[in-house]
Amino acid sequence: MQLADRIIVVTGAGRGNGRAISERLAEEGATVLVSDRNAEAAVAVTESIRASGGSAEAVTADVTNEDDIIRLFDRARELGGPHAVVAQAGISHNTPLHETTLEAWNQHIAVDVTGTFLTVREAVRSMLPLGGGSIVTMSGTYAFQSEPGAELHSASKGAILSFTRGVAVEYGNRGIRCNTIVPGYVATEMVEEFYAKLPPEASDRINKWHALGRIATPQEVANLALFLCSDQSSFSTGSPFFVDGGLTAGFNSWQIPGA
Ligand SMILES: NC(=O)c1ccc[n+]([C@@H]2O[C@H](COP(=O)([O-])OP(=O)(O)OC[C@H]3O[C@@H](n4cnc5c(N)ncnc54)[C@H](O)[C@@H]3O)[C@@H](O)[C@H]2O)c1
Repeated sequence: MQLADRIIVVTGAGRGNGRAISERLAEEGATVLVSDRNAEAAVAVTESIRASGGSAEAVTADVTNEDDIIRLFDRARELGGPHAVVAQAGISHNTPLHETTLEAWNQHIAVDVTGTFLTVREAVRSMLPLGGGSIVTMSGTYAFQSEPGAELHSASKGAILSFTRGVAVEYGNRGIRCNTIVPGYVATEMVEEFYAKLPPEASDRINKWHALGRIATPQEVANLALFLCSDQSSFSTGSPFFVDGGLTAGFNSWQIPGA
């Protein structure tokens, strides 16, 4: 058990990557504060973890709401933590820039960027008196590459990557590490909803973007989160960690006619 006695906060934990991460951390002995704006989803994940013999508690919190996030970390402190935090709540957006409204921009930045800021700030405030901890944020390959309609998504994931580096530099000498996960496409509900708007052949093309010929499972992302939350990653900070099946290693060959 790599995480026995650790208290770990996961945001956006009601489904998808956050759910898989919460389940994996609990398997390794952590008590997970399963946080999501969707109360029912957070409770369902918590019950599933407990049914498997793990330890978890549901906390309803919207990452854009400062009071919610302070309350979430009050609870983590009551339990003696947090020893690690996975700030990964996010939403998707796919509209050409000239059709993107200010409202859509503000909503996306509020969840992805401001939500990461609030969560990580409270994580740091809680970890300083503990003498350290591990913070994990959620970037994405769109921080490095983009495609038509993904300007807003690239902007938010790029901001998270740069923010992560800044946190690592400021707090490394006080024992706080901060790294970011960079997934390619992952088979979560978010991606299922995205595929539903595309022609049926789109998923095959997206599979081919990845050198491994498929997209990730949420459990593969969760394994990386486990590494970053645990002492196994003790000398890693300020880094992007790719779990992208080779997506960023090459050109997207489907863009070549006939390929
Ligand atoms: N799925 C992918 O292909 C992929 C790839 C790269 C990065 N990511 C990132 O991984 C993270 C999770 O993605 P996913 O695919 O699991 O998404 P998802 O939509 O399946 O799940 C997201 C969860 O976050 C919650 N959430 C949304 N807004 C919230 C808010 N304001 N406050 C609290 N909770 C909120 C939702 O209720 C949901 O439970 C996101 O940051 C996403 O950008 C996903």
